[in-house]
Amino acid sequence: MNCVQFLQWALPRMGMRCKGFRKVRRQVCRRIRRRMAELGVEGGPGYQAYLEANPDEWRELRRLCRVTISRFRRDQGVWRALEEEVIPKLARLPSPSGTSHAAPPALRAWSAGCASGEEPYTLSLLWALRLEHDLPHRTLEILATDVDPTVLERARAGVYDESSLQELSRDWVEAGFTREGERYRIRPPIQEPVEFGQADLLEEIPPGPFHLILCRNLLFTYFDEPTAARGLERMLASLAKGGALVVGSHEEPPTCRDWPLERWIRAEPIYRKTG
Ligand SMILES: C[S@@+](CC[C@H](N)C(=O)[O-])C[C@H]1O[C@@H](n2cnc3c(N)ncnc32)[C@H](O)[C@@H]1O
Repeated sequence: MNCVQFLQWALPRMGMRCKGFRKVRRQVCRRIRRRMAELGVEGGPGYQAYLEANPDEWRELRRLCRVTISRFRRDQGVWRALEEEVIPKLARLPSPSGTSHAAPPALRAWSAGCASGEEPYTLSLLWALRLEHDLPHRTLEILATDVDPTVLERARAGVYDESSLQELSRDWVEAGFTREGERYRIRPPIQEPVEFGQADLLEEIPPGPFHLILCRNLLFTYFDEPTAARGLERMLASLAKGGALVVGSHEEPPTCRDWPLERWIRAEPIYRKTG
């Protein structure tokens, strides 16, 4: 049994789909081989038998199958559409009840599967550099969650290699970061609106309502249709009516059901909640 055959056996048992792993299979297989060596088990059949005898090992295998690649302003078109069309319209939606009247009411965004912070900090940068000035009646609050404590630690530290910033223009890099040798540290005013938390999207959904949910390159790539549909159903319960859901550029919501969603921008994977 080679690694592909092992994954074909193991991924569906974790609610995951093999197709999503095509581009990252080598990286995942390398981790699995390292784990098998640590355990002293022989090849795919040996690890399969180990998993069957030690159900706790499934948690470790899930961890090995996590893909944490991200970068700032990933998918430029999405960020342009958020700036020019979506967020200005979201700013006209009512604010959640309970918002203090002393401060401008908050627009609430959730980055689900935020990796090392690249996505929520991109949103914070977009707000600070392009939107805040024209929307003075609103503030932006960003909740960013991930299941993986290691990436959350990196996100909170907010220090990045140049390669993570390659899609940002020079102005954005200068406005958003201070240089520390070869690395770049996110500036405090960009970091401040982002709150990080550890949460498994398949088990708990943070209390909404949110005006904007970004769930990109996670639920609709790596998980099978029933699992993705369960996750989406719960996520939509936390999205305000008229709010926006952004998925990855090669993703779409599972087609097994009619969702209260309509495509907001034809060329971009952005949906509006209709009901
Ligand atoms: C490929 S990254 C995507 C990062 C970012 N959303 C983007 O598109 O650039 C996927 C992230 O989802 C996280 N993740 C995987 N399973 C998760 C789960 N069940 N709940 C929450 N986060 C999860 C991983 O730890 C990883 O950081």
